[in-house]
Order: sequence, then structure tokens, then C-alpha cells
Amino acid sequence: MDQFNIFVRDNIVGYLTVILVGIGRRLGIFQYLYKKAISENIDKKIESVSFSVSELITKLDLNERYLDGWLTAAIEVGLIEIENNDTKLLKTCPYIYDFFIDSNNPVFLGAAYGSIYRIALQEDDVFKNFKTGKLISRAQIPKDIVMEGHRATARMGNTLENYFAKHFRQFQKNLKKEGKILEIGCGYGYNLLNWAKKYKKCGIIGLDIDEEAVNFTREQVLKNKLDERVEVLTISIEDYEIPKDKNKFDLILLNEVLHEMEMDDTFRKNVIDRLYLLLKEGGIVLIGESIIEDLFDPSRKPQLLEALHKWQEIGLTSKFYSEKSFRELIALTSFKNVELIKETYNSFWVLKK
Ligand SMILES: C[S@@+](CC[C@H](N)C(=O)[O-])C[C@H]1O[C@@H](n2cnc3c(N)ncnc32)[C@H](O)[C@@H]1O
Repeated sequence: MDQFNIFVRDNIVGYLTVILVGIGRRLGIFQYLYKKAISENIDKKIESVSFSVSELITKLDLNERYLDGWLTAAIEVGLIEIENNDTKLLKTCPYIYDFFIDSNNPVFLGAAYGSIYRIALQEDDVFKNFKTGKLISRAQIPKDIVMEGHRATARMGNTLENYFAKHFRQFQKNLKKEGKILEIGCGYGYNLLNWAKKYKKCGIIGLDIDEEAVNFTREQVLKNKLDERVEVLTISIEDYEIPKDKNKFDLILLNEVLHEMEMDDTFRKNVIDRLYLLLKEGGIVLIGESIIEDLFDPSRKPQLLEALHKWQEIGLTSKFYSEKSFRELIALTSFKNVELIKETYNSFWVLKK
């Protein structure tokens, strides 16, 4: 009976929630509710958003019958509740605004659910590749999904900054006064901008191999008037020239990048050796990554979020590390000082020169 309850309550409701959130986001329902909420609640904490069925039909040009099906299921799983039955007024359930509508909220789950849903959209390719082992190019992933992924990783980058501030207080205080930061794999720049706004006296360089992402980041740098001290380059880290000593970096960030780099261990070892050369004496590299065995290790306790990350990225050029295999990789490089800092929900690697 317990097992039955787990499957019915958690799995079926969970599965349905992923599908409903995925479709709701593709239809623009959540995005519409976000705009509505912020226009009605300037400077107020938003708990919930109210809307009518007819409003969604007209504003989003939706079919009534289909929308009714979506809403019925969304009420059943606890995304939406009825505010007024007579007027067909509905509202989001408690916390749903934070979880699925406000993409800036630290507890926003929309991107994670969106990427689980996305696997279903690529199901035919994934299915074929189970037989062939062929990889799916990241370039095949729609741009909006990549951008959203980077927004999610930027939130992790924010957490990384909080932990960095807590564990390296003096180093962080010094960086607040001056210094140089390099972000490798800055993507669409959400993380880069967060750090640039926090470290106002630092010169910052972001680089990425994705030209479209770099162009987008450059626009954001200009818009935020950060161009005097923030530079963004389209270049792979292995081609980035080692600067003279005084221009080396105090801090190098790799936030959710390592597992996405070319999978070959020699390539990665060479990249990490390059980071050593790019760092000033006393400088540090912060690496935010899911820590998981690249191939399953039955002795590890369950790691839901890490397993999810790996499942989302099978077939993309990604390769993860467990604590042991990461230490083995670093042992081949010039870094002698490696530390894994564990916090309640996250952990990160620190390499010191
Ligand atoms: C998941 S994104 C992380 C974005 C950003 N760091 C953040 O936290 O939001 C990983 C990025 O690494 C970039 N990348 C992969 N290999 C790279 C390489 N060899 N040199 C520079 N960037 C690379 C990818 O193009 C992608 O934009």
C-alpha cells in the first residue's frame, strides 16, 4: 500500500505537474501571469495571481476546450485553485508564483521542470541514440531553452558567490576593493552580470565559445553600463592567451561549465593546467558542478538533483565527476591545493595556487 501511495501521490502527480508546467510555459500562460502580477503589484511581495478563464482564452488565443482540460488537471495537482466559482475566477496556489512564475526567485523550479519536459520533446532522438550512442549537438537545442538553462545556472552561481563570501571572507573583502575575475563559459552572461554588480571595483573578463551567447552578453554589459571594466570574448579557454603577471586573475569561475567541455580527459587536464597559468600567485578557481559518478556507482547514496542533471544531459557532450574522479583529474595538473566545500544543498570545488 505504501508503495502504491508513493507511485500515485508522488509519481503520477509529479509526472502530470511536469507535463502541465511544460505545456503551460510553451503556451505562455506562466509568462502572461508574471507580467500581470508585476504590473498589478509594484513593490509588493506577490503571493498569488488571479485570472479568469476567458482572460486566458482571449489574451493567449487559446481553445476553450483544451484550456479547460489543462486547468482541470492543474487544479487537481495543486498548481491552481478556484477563487470564485460563479465568475470562473482562478488563482495560483500558494508558492506556485515563486516556484513556476517568477524566474528570478531563488526557489524557481520552472527551468528544471522545463528541461525534464524538454527530454520528452526530443524523445525520438534520445530513443534512437540509446542504440547508437550518438551525441546530440548542443546547437540543436532551441535558444530559448539554452537561455533559460543559463538563468538557472546563474542562480547557482549566485549561491556559489554566497558560499565564497562565507568561506573566503578576507579574500572576498579584498576583491571588493580591487582585482581581476575571469569567467570561463559565461554563456548568456546572467551569472557574469551578477558577479560584476557585486564586485564593482574588479576588471572582469567573460569568455565563451557560443558566439550568439557572447553577443547577447555584450549587449547586457552595455545596457548596464559595465563596459568600462567588463569585457566579453568569443574564444575557447584553450586558445585564450596567458597574460603578463600583473594582468593575471585573482579569481577564475567555472559555474556549471566543466561537465559541458569536450569530454576528453586530456583536454580537460590541459584546460585546468591553463587555469593555473592564468591565476595570480595566491589566486583561486571556483568550480560549481554537480558531483556525480560519470558511470553509476551503487555505493553512493541517492542524489536526486545530480541524477536529474545527468539524465538531462545524457547524449549532450557532457561528462561528470564524482569526488574521487575529480581529485584524480586534478592530481594530473599543476594544482596541489584542492578543496571540496560542502554546504547543505550544494558543494563546490576550490583550487588554490
Ligand atoms: C551551462 S553554461 C554556464 C553559463 C554560465 N557559466 C552560468 O553560470 O550561467 C556552460 C557554458 O560553457 C561554455 N563552454 C563549453 N566549453 C567551453 C570552452 N572550451 N571554452 C569556453 N566556454 C565553453 C558553453 O558554450 C556554455 O555557454
